[in-house]
Amino acid sequence: MATAIAHPNIALVKYWGKRDRELNLPAVGSISLTLDRFHTRTRVDFGAAEDSILLNGREAEPEEAERVFRHMDLVAPKRPAARVVSENNFPTAAGLASSSSAFAALTVATAAEAGQSLTRQELSALARQGSGSACRSLWGGFVEWRRGMGQNGNDSHGTPLAPEDHWDVCMVVAVVDSGKKAVSSRQAMLRSQMTSPMYQAWVSSYDRDLRQARQAILDRDLESLGTAMERSTWKMHSTTLTAQPCIRYIGSASLAVIETVERLRQDGTSAWWTMDAGPNVKVLCERTDAQTVAEALRAVITQIVVLGVGGASRVE
Ligand code: PMV
Repeated sequence: MATAIAHPNIALVKYWGKRDRELNLPAVGSISLTLDRFHTRTRVDFGAAEDSILLNGREAEPEEAERVFRHMDLVAPKRPAARVVSENNFPTAAGLASSSSAFAALTVATAAEAGQSLTRQELSALARQGSGSACRSLWGGFVEWRRGMGQNGNDSHGTPLAPEDHWDVCMVVAVVDSGKKAVSSRQAMLRSQMTSPMYQAWVSSYDRDLRQARQAILDRDLESLGTAMERSTWKMHSTTLTAQPCIRYIGSASLAVIETVERLRQDGTSAWWTMDAGPNVKVLCERTDAQTVAEALRAVITQIVVLGVGGASRVE
């Protein structure tokens, strides 16, 4: 049997929309930060009578299980039946990027159990097909997922931009709601792509965000990175808000957090927010400001978690 650990990553410049649904190829490039402390631990054991999966202590729903087994078939074609046991030490499917760590850990554990020696880049391209954001969790620190140009997707995988110890920043997470989200990122990005009149503008404007974020990471320029991140976030959410029917992840509690972050900045603390396909708000700041940020957020949301920069996915 083989066990792997992977950390979730949060997009600083967002992936939203696909140029190929079958291969999960993105319409735009993205940049992320891998988090510490939160992780998925997944054990794959090929010595089973039939495929089964225990997810966070309960047998998986047939649909979830099917997605996992299909992904394992992709990583290890002709594999024998497997018992999979997977656990997150944080809320699942609540906009805390659990699918990124889940599919990274599953890919690494399955390849290890099958005795394959794949490069990290090859593992990343495989993880991408389970869940796009998972391809960035193969590395720690700051990671870019290039859009790629090829039809077969071999050039669309994660690439490390800066290692874990490059910059001591934190993500202060305001857990607005830890329940499962109503519309998955997969459904929401498809609906935005198909129906939002803002989607074309999203695709034609992402490159500036990527360039600014890359340079800001190299320069450790938080204001420049934060500006690019907030711009990318507003644009992504403007495509969901203008989809038919509309998908609204930003609720009143999320807005209260955003306003708190804006006030922190007015008072001289460099803090920058982002949101994904869920109501939780993640606030980027220097570690030296993390306590100030956490305290300010606690005045509006009770559950606050401070996370630092995490490392690469690995076999245990
Ligand atoms: O790959 P998925 O289905 O986890 O989609 C991720 C979508 C966002 O989290 C909103 C953005 C991103 O780049 O992670």
